[in-house]
Amino acid sequence: MARVQILGVSKRYPGRGRDAAEVVAVDDVTIDVASGEIHAIIGYSGAGKSTLLRLVNGLERASSGRILVGDHEITALSESKLRGVRAGIGMIFQQFNLFHSKKVAKNVEYPLIVAGMPPAERKARVAELLDFVGLADKADAYTDQLSGGQKQRVGIARALATNPGLLLADEATSALDPETSQEVLALLKRINAELGITIILITHEMEVVREIASRVTVMDRGRAVEQGEVFDVFSAPQTDTTRRFVATALPTAPDPEHLDELRQRHRGRLVSLTFRDGDVDQPVVFRTLAERGVGVSIVHGGITDVGGRSFGRLTLELIGDDLKVEHAVAALGQEADLEVLA
Ligand SMILES: Nc1ncnc2c1ncn2[C@@H]1O[C@H](COP(=O)(O)OP(=O)(O)OP(=O)(O)O)[C@@H](O)[C@H]1O
Ligand SMILES: [Mg+2]
Repeated sequence: MARVQILGVSKRYPGRGRDAAEVVAVDDVTIDVASGEIHAIIGYSGAGKSTLLRLVNGLERASSGRILVGDHEITALSESKLRGVRAGIGMIFQQFNLFHSKKVAKNVEYPLIVAGMPPAERKARVAELLDFVGLADKADAYTDQLSGGQKQRVGIARALATNPGLLLADEATSALDPETSQEVLALLKRINAELGITIILITHEMEVVREIASRVTVMDRGRAVEQGEVFDVFSAPQTDTTRRFVATALPTAPDPEHLDELRQRHRGRLVSLTFRDGDVDQPVVFRTLAERGVGVSIVHGGITDVGGRSFGRLTLELIGDDLKVEHAVAALGQEADLEVLA
């Protein structure tokens, strides 16, 4: 529901101690998040991701640049005006940040009390929110009796209480096991699809990006080094940082050690093929090989979905006499993104 414009934003912290250099936590970052988009921000520890989110909801002040959330220019608002605007920005955290000594319902009700909603309305709203996140039966439980996934659902219900147009998620699934993590991601997808809430999500897990984001920004030492549709950024990474991230979530060509092992077991010619949705026709590849009398084994890699499109990298062993293999490789090179593994 809210477009978010981060325009040339920097955040500098003064150095600690005498002569200490200042820390540039966020360095001239520009991101335009469309209304209704799920935008992921990835980067290694210390890249400036959390700092950037705190600038977006005005918990910290930018040193320079402008930030707009919907019509509100966050970077130009007084602290008292910001408080009102923050009701329109929900936030969830890795460690959930719940009140442990309070019941689930109280945790969810809290932002409604702050917003001045009358008690009867609050009760109805809390019930509705708990129902939405699948915790209707846990209203009277204490939060420390809940599993991690349930705690994050409470955090999400609380974040949604005041009907925000924007949800900020800082490593919201990093403390959860893979299955629970999937459930929470599915809930975030539903929030985006059914309520139209814009989501900016920080993560260091490529799987999370692959799973739910449509666009992604890669941060490295405070800077936004790469940005675009998830499929485009993942299938053709431009920087080393992105390449290293992508390798954790997408099929790769074998690394040198693995290649040595593969060679022990496979005596044929090894080639690596990259399939980007739409630009390589798999049947054509396999037909080309068959027509030239070359046998094929798939020895490494796979095909996966990225942003609803398929991407794959397959390492093939080509089996047959040398000349036939040579011709097949030449023919394949015309049709596909092919690398001969020397
Ligand atoms: N309040 C602060 N005072 C001084 N330096 C800070 C402060 N907050 C963050 N930093 C520094 O800014 C840089 C970015 O920190 P930030 O927490 O935004 O990184 P991050 O990408 O969220 O990392 P992580 O993945 O570990 O959460 C780091 O070098 C950090 O030490
Ligand atoms: Mg962080």
